[in-house]
Amino acid sequence: MSSSILVTGGAGYIGSHTVLQLLLGGYKAVVVDNLDNSSEIAVKRVQELAGEHGSNLTFHKIDLRDKPALEQLFASEKFDAVIHFAGLKAVGESVQKPLMYYDNNLIGTIVLLEVMAAHGCKKLVFSSSATVYGWPKVVPCTEESPISAMNPYGRTKLFIEEICRDIYQSDSTWKIILLRYFNPVGAHPSGYIGEDPRGIPNNLMPFVQQVAVGRRPALTVFGTDYGTKDGTGVRDYIHVVDLADGHIAAVNKLADPSVGCEVYNLGTGKGTSVLEMVAAFEKASGKKIPLVTAGRRPGDAEIVYASTDKAERELNWKAKYGIDEMCRDQWNWASKNPYGYESPESTN
Ligand code: UD1
Repeated sequence: MSSSILVTGGAGYIGSHTVLQLLLGGYKAVVVDNLDNSSEIAVKRVQELAGEHGSNLTFHKIDLRDKPALEQLFASEKFDAVIHFAGLKAVGESVQKPLMYYDNNLIGTIVLLEVMAAHGCKKLVFSSSATVYGWPKVVPCTEESPISAMNPYGRTKLFIEEICRDIYQSDSTWKIILLRYFNPVGAHPSGYIGEDPRGIPNNLMPFVQQVAVGRRPALTVFGTDYGTKDGTGVRDYIHVVDLADGHIAAVNKLADPSVGCEVYNLGTGKGTSVLEMVAAFEKASGKKIPLVTAGRRPGDAEIVYASTDKAERELNWKAKYGIDEMCRDQWNWASKNPYGYESPESTN
């Protein structure tokens, strides 16, 4: 019988791509999502893309803080492992509404961990973030680099990592893998699923995409005076399908008896500036992206990119795609779905 994986936040951007790779890899996937920043249409499309494996996907609209609902789910099904994506992720909003972030991200995770323990499911893969490296003094960031948080969103990632380390200390029958994502971009090559943020996008590529399809007039470049090749911020962009495959590698790793509580970076190990990314997107799309320059965005680091050695060595995983493929697939998704999963009337 195939392994059954519970995927929290499985209707979201990274979640939906990971669920697809799980299904194609022969896993059963059970998605729980409160649909706060995601769409059930993504789940339906994943099901279609998975073809004959589509019937191995089920969806439950559940908020993780609803403990009775989660209890009921765990009582009705046995899960081999949980991949935990569900959480709020807008940095600016977290500064405005810290309690909302702590309530959603921390309480949701604590309830999930309690219910998992009560049902003897002690294998977890958690979505952490390169945000825990703050403004790195040294790049590439290794898993041993110092960690810190620069805003409430980042603190929720950091706290959850620490909670996981404490749980493992208290009970070594847990197996936990913390994945620190760098900057996920792109979409499934089919152009059928992709990123669909609500409201004005905070991140670079969703914004560029909305400029390309005419939803926004220009991209504001935050900071042109960094000590980088062209003065703009440098990041490690990773194709979302590579990132999704990293989760499959992590789930497989959970079967390794030596795993306790482990951390892995998921990035490409390559740094790309804002202007380089814009140029690659213009080439892929044939669209000109008008630029407006502005000062640095508060809390932004200058250069962040990953050391990928540990993931390559221990997860046997390495990103395959470069920025040209990321931009090609981002544009394919954007041009086919200029308003994401919704109709133009329901978006702003
Ligand atoms: C941001 C978050 C980080 C989070 C990550 C993934 C901040 C300060 N950091 O990281 O905590 O984990 O997203 O969700 O928000 N840029 C522009 N114009 C834009 C948008 C971005 O010039 O409209 C620049 C930024 O200054 C940066 C680069 O593009 O140099 C990438 O930005 P973004 O996509 O927001 O990612 P991060 O800043 O790495």
